[in-house]
Amino acid sequence: MNYLGIDVGTTGIKGLVVEENGQILDRFNFPLTVNIVKPGWSEQNPMDWWKGVLEILKKAAKYKINSIGLSGQMHSLVTLDKDGKVVRPAILWNDQRTTKECQEATQILGGERNVISEVGNPILEGFTLGKILWIKKNEPENFKKIRYIMMPKDYIAYMLTGKIGTEWSDASGTAFYDVRSRKWNSRVLKTLEINEELLPSISKSYDLRGFLEKSKEFGWENVKVVAGGADNAVSALGIGVFRPGDCMVSVGTSGTVLGVTSSKDPDSEGKLHYFNHVVDNFSYYMGVMLSATSSFDWARRIVASDDSLEKIEEMVKGSKPGSNGLIFLPYLNGERTPHRDPHARGVIFGISLISQKSDILRSVIEGITFGLRDSFELVKKRVDVKSAKITGGGSNNLEWVRIIASNFKVPVEIPEINEGGAYGAAMLAAVGDGKDFDEVSKWIKIKKTIEPEKSWTEFYDSWYYEYKGLYNDLKERFKETDHQS
Ligand code: XUL
Repeated sequence: MNYLGIDVGTTGIKGLVVEENGQILDRFNFPLTVNIVKPGWSEQNPMDWWKGVLEILKKAAKYKINSIGLSGQMHSLVTLDKDGKVVRPAILWNDQRTTKECQEATQILGGERNVISEVGNPILEGFTLGKILWIKKNEPENFKKIRYIMMPKDYIAYMLTGKIGTEWSDASGTAFYDVRSRKWNSRVLKTLEINEELLPSISKSYDLRGFLEKSKEFGWENVKVVAGGADNAVSALGIGVFRPGDCMVSVGTSGTVLGVTSSKDPDSEGKLHYFNHVVDNFSYYMGVMLSATSSFDWARRIVASDDSLEKIEEMVKGSKPGSNGLIFLPYLNGERTPHRDPHARGVIFGISLISQKSDILRSVIEGITFGLRDSFELVKKRVDVKSAKITGGGSNNLEWVRIIASNFKVPVEIPEINEGGAYGAAMLAAVGDGKDFDEVSKWIKIKKTIEPEKSWTEFYDSWYYEYKGLYNDLKERFKETDHQS
């Protein structure tokens, strides 16, 4: 028996063929680009995701597949017309155009406290709600055509099965779903004049969505397609973060820190997201930075495009904590947690005549780590975190993991299989096919645990303080200069 896990990511579609015992048989990647329409705007064409998925299915056809599970970028808005055709490109999770719409909706709903008590979260630029309101206001012709609204992995499930639906974990990121009652919030939708009929029905994440319509084309029979989930929740499942107290730090395109909880209380201050997990009964608190490895990739492109990742790790080790006086603010596309500031931008502060390339690279890694620490400090207040598990591209750089452990002051575990959402998606495929969560969690093994470096922690406390101060000093300046973008 094999399972196919598919992750609809921002930089690519990833497919993993996984055996019943959790071993990976094969992996496939289909790269994607993001259309930065203008600074702060971010779109992709759902048909490109589908093209990638078809390529992966073709390559996976040499294996027998029992069921397919899905994971996908959260919040991004897919709009389909009455014939199931894409109305306009998807507006992505890291798009920042909807500030006005979010503020207006918050006001109409009686202020942020009220919104949080209705849905469990504030209305943030990245969430799906603002994107719908933006189209309604700015593209009324497109808005009229919309018959179905969904998130990226739901679109792929629709293309695979012909069935429309979503599930708990992705519904959580819309800002019109009540995370506690696990239902669309009709009051919010009615007040904002969004027709609830445009929304899909909501299932569990491991429920069957349907059967692969094209099974025969790939030489398969009756392949099941399982609903799947939001990439952060599915990635967390994939590294064994699904019981209260478990914590994930994900260093991917976005950087997230997630702590699992059985609590029914959202963050009343709205600093942390509060979303349903893909398992029954539990939810999670999460902080999100918008540009984690995307900041690192940017820096690599600009100063180290000829260097391998191994060479970069060596260089970063060669610099010292504090990067010879450099501080990097990783806000290349604004920031969500903790600042909620679409105007913020990247900064390399403190350059002097002694600054080396290695210092710049280390400062970028330290700056991203401080961004993650901002979220970790908040999560720690709500979840009793004793250790964290790491996933995402950043986890391959052991010096980086050491910097994270020293800032978080807890051991950071690196799983043996570190494939992000696609692996968790394969687990959901297995659960949808009759296994239980405890069974599939036996697939997970820890490769290495990195302890905090005691001689660094005090210094990083003080450097983190400077990092926070630098943003505070520049906050107003970011706003003033944003008209240039
Ligand atoms: C989470 C978020 C991102 C995307 C990345 O709230 O916006 O982590 O899920 O795909």
